[in-house]
Amino acid sequence: MLEVRDLKVHYGGIAAVKGISFEVRAGEMVCLIGANGAGKTTTLKAIARMVPAQGELLYRAASIVHRPCHELIGEGLALVPEGRGVFARLSVQENLEMGAYCRAGVASKGEMSADLERIYGLLPRLAERRKQLAGTLSGGEQQMLAIGRSLMSHPKLLLLDEPSMGLAPLMVQKVFEVIQSVAAQGVTLLLVEQNAQLALSMCSRGYVMESGLITLAASSSSLLENPAVRTAYLGE
Ligand SMILES: Nc1ncnc2c1ncn2[C@@H]1O[C@H](COP(=O)(O)OP(=O)(O)O)[C@@H](O)[C@H]1O
Ligand SMILES: [Mg+2]
Repeated sequence: MLEVRDLKVHYGGIAAVKGISFEVRAGEMVCLIGANGAGKTTTLKAIARMVPAQGELLYRAASIVHRPCHELIGEGLALVPEGRGVFARLSVQENLEMGAYCRAGVASKGEMSADLERIYGLLPRLAERRKQLAGTLSGGEQQMLAIGRSLMSHPKLLLLDEPSMGLAPLMVQKVFEVIQSVAAQGVTLLLVEQNAQLALSMCSRGYVMESGLITLAASSSSLLENPAVRTAYLGE
């Protein structure tokens, strides 16, 4: 589904990503963990073609390194950004409708309402609040809205940036239940998390990122047992 080879991203003179390689196979749920500032968000933005990068990016076996961001959304590559980025002054439903904007082909009214109902079925909290302004939702509801909005583009590969950030534990659990049901529908997921325990408990494999480099790649179970990971990321 995704192959990243020797990816490098610079912001002016600062190297944020220093040559990383990894892959995500179709149907997998893989996480990228690491401390604040490690380069995780930059990596996701580079894959979604939102920041210029060097190296090779293959999405469904085709090079995307020179493709514009909006075309990739139409081909099923979607990013749920850090901090959610919902449109505060639009209603829940209008936010969801915006998610269909860049998808392939024009959505008919019938397709649009079928998609909305499917998403409200998955996210009943949003169904109850469809006319509410997004800016007045709780943090967890906004995260669910950001995920729901991304589903409107019919993603095949979903990049999720820190979906647990700033949420109370109970809400984190609810958001991750939603993520799990998205995965169960066959969407391939690349999950970025500072909450390593949670991410590794959800994913089959993980990569550890430190100062712009991938320093470990292993199954979640072996990362959870790794003493260095336990000390650095699991608070032991
Ligand atoms: N827009 C930007 N301009 C300059 N430097 C940036 C920008 N965004 C991120 N950085 C820097 O790139 C590095 C990686 O940041 P980021 O990818 O956000 O890390 P993470 O998501 O792992 O916390 C940090 O040193 C950060 O300060
Ligand atoms: Mg980040």
